[in-house]
Amino acid sequence: MEVVILSGKEEAGAVAADAIEALFRAKPEAVLGLATGSSPLPIYNELARRHDELGLSFTQAQGFALDEYVGLPVGHPESYREVLRREFTERVDIDPSRVHAPNGAAADLVAACAEYEEAIKLAGGVDLQILGIGTDGHIGFNEPVSSLASRTRIKTLTEQTRADNARFFNSLDEVPHHVVTQGLGTIMEAKHILLIANGGQKAAAVKALIEGPVAAFCPASVLQLHPHVTVLIDEESAVQLE
Ligand code: F6R
Repeated sequence: MEVVILSGKEEAGAVAADAIEALFRAKPEAVLGLATGSSPLPIYNELARRHDELGLSFTQAQGFALDEYVGLPVGHPESYREVLRREFTERVDIDPSRVHAPNGAAADLVAACAEYEEAIKLAGGVDLQILGIGTDGHIGFNEPVSSLASRTRIKTLTEQTRADNARFFNSLDEVPHHVVTQGLGTIMEAKHILLIANGGQKAAAVKALIEGPVAAFCPASVLQLHPHVTVLIDEESAVQLE
């Protein structure tokens, strides 16, 4: 695991965008794993800028969202499919039909999870997975005590995560209780994983991710077992590191 402490979000966004740009210049048909939430925004902003100003192109790319809320109507502004469209995919030249998200509105969610796993496999797997980390150590929506070998499935959000995400909704009551998320085993199959975190509220999770035991209590700690992980953090989120 390579850990890089940077001056802040903008620098992290630029370093992450450098890795993504290098990937797409070498492999235009690469598959990107896409996180939502606040952490990846500086990456998407920088990729959109490089698309506009430097001609960075994603026409042959594919994208796979990490997770999706269950129970939000199709087109809800906070569904992760919509968030990704607004914050990234409609700002670059990626073909919308090549951007995939788990179907949290499916009548048969179990079948939808299996189909999602199959679609990732058919695409040849994820070349570069962007990740954030929850204050409770989740990646994707694999909450504490998730199986380290888990695959795409339905999960229940912790109250801590619902409270953390309430800022995106009008009230806590509107935050769904359930999600569909890629499993830890699914995420671990990505060839390169790039995790971005910032702010003091992430310090305990960042410490457990990097220095804690590999344990389901901090799902992100499984990344210690992955051969190619880059962790981009700021000084506030790094304060608890030895
Ligand atoms: C989002 C996701 C989550 C977030 C995490 C951090 O697709 O999978 O794991 O990355 O909750 O969220 P932010 O970046 O908003 O602090």
